[in-house]
Amino acid sequence: MCKKIVIAIDGPAASGKSSVAKNLAEKLGFTYVDTGAMYRAITYLAIRKNIVDDVDAVIDLVKNIKIELKFENGLTRVFINGEEVTEHIRTPEVNAKVSEVSRIPEVRQELVKIQRKMGENGNLVAEGRDTTTVVFPNADLKIYLTADLDERATRRHLEYQEKGNNVSFDEVKENLKKRDTIDSQRKVSPLSKAEDAYELDTTDLTIEQEIENIIKKVEEIKAKKEMQN
Ligand code: CDP
Repeated sequence: MCKKIVIAIDGPAASGKSSVAKNLAEKLGFTYVDTGAMYRAITYLAIRKNIVDDVDAVIDLVKNIKIELKFENGLTRVFINGEEVTEHIRTPEVNAKVSEVSRIPEVRQELVKIQRKMGENGNLVAEGRDTTTVVFPNADLKIYLTADLDERATRRHLEYQEKGNNVSFDEVKENLKKRDTIDSQRKVSPLSKAEDAYELDTTDLTIEQEIENIIKKVEEIKAKKEMQN
């Protein structure tokens, strides 16, 4: 039997990781692990419980809840203790706090455990900030996705408009900038390009072109693995 294939994708906020990872997972029939959705879910719950600025309470929260991701029809559904929170985790309020929650080492420790568990049984595509460096350092294919800040802000702003959310372009851009700074400067598992990651600047690429590029690489890996069997 062919050994499982792990694809890990990291990159700054709104660089297109989710679109690429979802599309790949669907095309290849792989499990999709959206690590950002987990950090967002904890942040959402902490805001709701009014404890988001209390580090000890957030740590207590993350140690005592069950987070589940279900990837269905191109959508990651997120559940905390069985309650669906999918609709609540991508709001400006969560965006404003998620990087602060994500810099807490104990929060990362707990979530990384769950992420690795999801990757135990088969082929998978994981995406986030530390999937190529910390969660799956032995991934078969590592990708670092980037795009210009203005392009990323334009894409995210459009997503908000499509959902009827009235956030200004400038606010979106400021939030991306702020999250990138915290995410890449924190002490534990900062966002960085793994040495062996393949860097893809998506500023001028369409999603189809990106996927085509990556599928070619996955085919090469598959062929290599088959030769080794
Ligand atoms: O979709 P977008 O790029 O805006 O963000 P995301 O992937 O949903 O991640 C939201 C936030 O979670 C990031 O800004 C990070 O603070 C945090 N995160 C992290 O610290 N480590 C990960 N592996 C994934 C996300």
